[in-house]
Amino acid sequence: MKFSVKTFDTGNITSDLLILVTYPDSHHTYNCLPDAVNADIKTIIPQINLSGDEKDLFISLNNSTIPYLLLITINHHDGNNLEDFREAGFYINKYFEKVKGKSAHCIVNLPNQNPEDVASAITEGLLLSAYSFSEFKSDAKKKSKINRHLTYLFKTSEYRSTITKHIKKIQIIATGVNYARTLANRPGNVLTPLALAKDVRSVFRDDPSIDVEVLQGKKLESLKMNAFLAVAKGSDQTPALIIIKYKSGLKKAKKLALIGKGITFDSGGISIKPAGKMEEMKYDMAGSAAVIGVLKAISALRPKLDIVAAIPAAENLPSGKAYKPGDIIRAFNGTTIEIINTDAEGRLLLADTLSFVEKKFRPDWMVDLATLTGSIVSTFGDQCCGIFSKDDSLLKYFHQAADKCDERVWAMPMWDEYKKPLESKVADIKHVGGKDAGSITAAKFLETFVTKTPWIHLDIAGTAYDLKSKKYLKEGASGFGVRLVLSFIEELQN
Ligand code: BES
Ligand code: ZN
Ligand code: ZN
Repeated sequence: MKFSVKTFDTGNITSDLLILVTYPDSHHTYNCLPDAVNADIKTIIPQINLSGDEKDLFISLNNSTIPYLLLITINHHDGNNLEDFREAGFYINKYFEKVKGKSAHCIVNLPNQNPEDVASAITEGLLLSAYSFSEFKSDAKKKSKINRHLTYLFKTSEYRSTITKHIKKIQIIATGVNYARTLANRPGNVLTPLALAKDVRSVFRDDPSIDVEVLQGKKLESLKMNAFLAVAKGSDQTPALIIIKYKSGLKKAKKLALIGKGITFDSGGISIKPAGKMEEMKYDMAGSAAVIGVLKAISALRPKLDIVAAIPAAENLPSGKAYKPGDIIRAFNGTTIEIINTDAEGRLLLADTLSFVEKKFRPDWMVDLATLTGSIVSTFGDQCCGIFSKDDSLLKYFHQAADKCDERVWAMPMWDEYKKPLESKVADIKHVGGKDAGSITAAKFLETFVTKTPWIHLDIAGTAYDLKSKKYLKEGASGFGVRLVLSFIEELQN
């Protein structure tokens, strides 16, 4: 998709689809439109009464140069409603596809709104809506993709170059999100731990500032990452710890560590899950997909800090070799863990990865993303993810980041009383603390594997896929976390 930025008061346009994004009470004639179209708009706008959720009106015009008009009304005037513009992007994509055109023009006539933010949000909503996962649709390859071109028309050319820059950045971010979605959408038989590692290698092959290293087999055994390895034991798929390093090239750069849960399929293992919706557990590597999506964007955005990403990838299956409830495992950091329920596998691989990353890379901050608990889904549904940290500045950065990208977060308590249920009679710690406050006791378990680094845990189980509440991200993997972490990285640099 190509984007351009022009003004709406010069030159006559020819377009397969004209989009007008405006306030419901706005009256204006646009020099770029034929008189007849201006007249149509003038009569249509006062008549429209879009109620409730409806913000779009699609009309066939009797005009040869501009056959279709899409009106999108924006209700608030307070400049604080970017989600409305992402939704506008969804409508633009929907009707752009419907008219099967190549070119569309989008007039944005909204005094009091920041034009860069509006163009960014519309572009973001459009690019995320235009995504589909078609790798396994036999007829998808036959459909030729039309190369579409959208021209934004603003009142003045004043912001043209900054808007263009913002759009370029959003294209990079959306590419990262959509890549994360593709990884997470791939089924467990295709996206095995080693297939994930292979993809990561090939994505960053041509970027000299990004190094990829894959640890597997004997190497993981000699490192004694036994909690991670225990989870993988029931599966024939080889587990892998995928490490991605981005070097900013700056001396004394701060270092951020990103860790993503990479369970390519979670059957629950010996504590097997019920059959209903078990297919959704192919998304159990959405945390790692988000981390990889972030790095993909980072490779183009080149922020001024170093980043190390670590992805423990494994499959959780039952078999004669699988780990079992009651087993006691010595983790990488020496802690002995009593296994309670093999379906709580995510915290085991994260525990070893957190302590490994902290020891080996000594980062300034650690952030982990994981589809960790059903409990967080019961708490928030798909409205936000839970964030867990005792570090006030990380919590503040994440709240600010979430406000900017509308990937919402809610801070959960980390009181030490929640560690009590993890006491074990036979080992240093139990890995499950009963059914109450499940997402919090899971976070408290992880906390014991971090010694001193400021750390935040994001439980994204409710927001990783099938976001019913977001028009522009409805089906399949959402890529949740990519925009949030990129926005957080921006906050860190400010
Ligand atoms: N992958 C699941 C969590 C999950 C649930 C992700 C729903 C996405 C949607 C995780 O490994 C799991 O099974 N957790 C158990 C832990 C329990 C056994 C303590 C859970 O939350 O039920
Ligand atoms: Zn599980
Ligand atoms: Zn899981």
